[in-house]
Amino acid sequence: MNPLDATKSGFLVCIAICMFIYTFIYLKNTLSEESNEQKFTTDTTECGFYPDELCSALFVGKSVASQIGNFCQNTYQPETLSCIQTSCNCSVVLKNLHFITRPLSEEEGNFSLAYIITIHKELQMFVKLLRAIYMPQNIYCIHVDEKSPKDYKAAVQNIVNCFENIFISSKKESVVYAGFSRLQADINCMRDLVHSKVQWNYVINLCGQDYPIKTNKDIIQYIKSKWNGKNMTPGVVQPLHMKHRTRVSYREYVHSGKSYVYPTKNIKAKPPYNLTIYFGSAYYILTKEFVEFTLTDARAKELLEWSRDTYSPDEHYWVTLNRLNDAPGATPNAAWEGNIRAVKWKDQEGTTHKGCKGHYIRDICVYGLGDLQWIIESPHLFANKFESATYPLVMDCLERRYRLKVLQQAEVPIEDHWRFQENNYFNMKLNV
Ligand SMILES: *[C@@H]1O[C@H](CO)[C@@H](O)[C@H](O)[C@H]1NC(C)=O
Ligand SMILES: *[C@@H]1O[C@H](CO)[C@@H](O)[C@H](O)[C@H]1NC(C)=O
Ligand SMILES: *[C@@H]1O[C@H](CO)[C@@H](O)[C@H](O)[C@H]1NC(C)=O
Repeated sequence: MNPLDATKSGFLVCIAICMFIYTFIYLKNTLSEESNEQKFTTDTTECGFYPDELCSALFVGKSVASQIGNFCQNTYQPETLSCIQTSCNCSVVLKNLHFITRPLSEEEGNFSLAYIITIHKELQMFVKLLRAIYMPQNIYCIHVDEKSPKDYKAAVQNIVNCFENIFISSKKESVVYAGFSRLQADINCMRDLVHSKVQWNYVINLCGQDYPIKTNKDIIQYIKSKWNGKNMTPGVVQPLHMKHRTRVSYREYVHSGKSYVYPTKNIKAKPPYNLTIYFGSAYYILTKEFVEFTLTDARAKELLEWSRDTYSPDEHYWVTLNRLNDAPGATPNAAWEGNIRAVKWKDQEGTTHKGCKGHYIRDICVYGLGDLQWIIESPHLFANKFESATYPLVMDCLERRYRLKVLQQAEVPIEDHWRFQENNYFNMKLNV
């Protein structure tokens, strides 16, 4: 083939691909005339059946979809959730926010999860997370940062009031990043949870920027099959480069809206009971018996006191206790196993992922549209981190797909208000 022919055929292939893409996008558009929910202008035609068609393309990793998606998510104002700015009565909250109101199977009805959710901002994101993980047989403790604005707290309280199995923790902390208050917030919720009437099996902690990848049923089946009766606390013996976290005493600085922890020159005493300190994830999945143990055991109590002036104690406290031979459900020989959280760490670029398509905050990826395929293909139960205000389409796609998956697995008749969309424009052939 001479060079001119090669250029020509390359050009033709290019044209063919372009035509294919345009046909794909326009075809369903012309079929969509009867949809009166969406008004198509010349600018928005290429957004197709927004957002489902774009989501389908994003979930299979079509790179052109990210570009179109960025355009479309700016064109379409993200739907603001009802009952957030204005208060509604509870029957409207349940209906309009599409809360699931009955256990979806006998297996799920028999196995209760407790959730601890620590939040401080972004009400929309909290409601999206809550309505995804909410099941009437579960129980939810919400820790709202003491620093949060009054109207934020009131709005959360308004929604929580509609549910018997959701409550705000009785004791609130002003949470400092990497500080003891972060650990204390979880413990406050645990104290409330062990006294609750609901008999739960496991507790899972989440923050306001997490979102589930697996359904309630998937989570239960994962726990039962791989961890039956055991706690999940990914982590290892404290490595050398983490020793500074517990070697000197740290202090929390809180002043006029700013807060952080800083090291002092004071060397700390050895850990109580000669405990070996581990280092791991602040995210856990724990049995009720283990939680009761951490609230009452003398070693746990002294470790907690000793941890007060350490750096990010939530990253050593749970894993250290769960490596004790005699703790209920302990896993003394475990390491990083346990698929709790999908995170794109900056320093794992090129190993566990191929870069962040959103942006990094403190070396953790805030997911953009180009991260959607990686997220849904992850084996983890939840993913972090999301900002629905920055990347609204990321949340729209995940929410809609997630709810379809949940309802597909349901073994009871589905109520209309559980559905997010009347018609489903996801390309189900692609299994998205
Ligand atoms: C809740 O509000 C809706 C709409 O404003 C109204 O139709 C309904 O009767 C109210 N329900 C109760 C129980 O007050
Ligand atoms: C659920 O619990 C009921 C009553 O304890 C029991 O009969 C049933 O077999 C359980 N179902 C499953 C799927 O575990
Ligand atoms: C403390 O633990 C270390 C290793 O875990 C062990 O070598 C040492 O003998 C222990 N000391 C005491 C006083 O128990």
